[in-house]
Amino acid sequence: MMDAFGVATPLLRLLDAETAHRASIAALKLLPAGAPGPDDARLAVSAFGLDFPNPIGLAAGFDKNAEVADAMLGFGFGFVEVGTLTPRAQPGNARPRAFRLVEDSAVINRYGFNNVGHASALARLSQRARRGVVGVNIGANKDAADRVADYVAGVRAFAEVASYFTINVSSPNTPGLRDLQEPDALSDLLARVIDARDAARIRRPLLLKIAPDLTLDQLDDIVRVARDRRIDGMIVSNTTISRPATLRSPLARESGGLSGAPLFDLSTRVLAQTYLRVEGQFPLIGVGGVDGVEAALAKIEAGATLTQLYSAMVYAGPGLVTRIKRGLIDVLARDKEALSARIGRRATALSEAD
Ligand code: FNR
Repeated sequence: MMDAFGVATPLLRLLDAETAHRASIAALKLLPAGAPGPDDARLAVSAFGLDFPNPIGLAAGFDKNAEVADAMLGFGFGFVEVGTLTPRAQPGNARPRAFRLVEDSAVINRYGFNNVGHASALARLSQRARRGVVGVNIGANKDAADRVADYVAGVRAFAEVASYFTINVSSPNTPGLRDLQEPDALSDLLARVIDARDAARIRRPLLLKIAPDLTLDQLDDIVRVARDRRIDGMIVSNTTISRPATLRSPLARESGGLSGAPLFDLSTRVLAQTYLRVEGQFPLIGVGGVDGVEAALAKIEAGATLTQLYSAMVYAGPGLVTRIKRGLIDVLARDKEALSARIGRRATALSEAD
């Protein structure tokens, strides 16, 4: 049952990636809202003023329209990030736009922020009982005249229902979006988004999600701006536009963002490099190629307080989160050391890894 939604299921494997995803969402919407069993207290994490029952989150893009957050919390995720949501509904790019690189345990997508828009997602999130940590990932419409205004609108729209916000300036599939990572544009964006956040009735943490395809000079600038603006945290990283030479799938040349196993080394290195620059000013979420307990621990040792995953679940199903949590508990029992003691322990080594 737990893994009925991964492409481990032969039926889903027969479908193209987007159709399989739609079928999974439709099935998940029918699940009775089951509460997850309580997590081992040793897995609990506090960050950004929020309490997480465990450090394994569902990354943005799986539940773009905020339809199945409770179902995914029910599978044992410590938190779920919905979105990316834009003010107005938009169709995204032409299909096909999602590809499973089976030989590489990877995914390429060029969806381009297809989503139902703020109003519809807000209506859904307003109806939930609001148990558990549910972050809202916000972006800009492709044809926005003022992109920053779209992020501001996101913070205003979801302030009541979002546990935290992710400012997504790192999707490769909206032309020009990643230019918002440039220092002047980023500084202006963060200033306006923070103003909107501070004006809202409830003060929600703001996290910045960055691409893995940055030079160290660019990363220096981004972290400097994020620290100056007193952002609450960063998420490292989104998908990559690079194509590691090791890819074997014939689909590797499809354009879009690559995620899953081949993103692990790159995103972990950028995470470690970010950690070293942040100097403890705020916590980080490490994402990219997490597919088991070893990868999750590596993210923590590179500097992550929390981790997220998406692509590995496409192959292993959502039961993966339970397996990772069990693995973490085994490691905790063996080493008699808190997870928090490991944060950033190998950051220097991993920041230099090839
Ligand atoms: C994504 N990701 C993503 N990220 C984001 O901030 N907004 C989004 O809308 C999406 N959409 C999306 C769709 C698909 C099909 C995939 C596979 C990924 C990126 C995702 O949140 C994550 O950062 C990367 O996929 C790396 O993690 P994994 O997949 O390697 O665990």
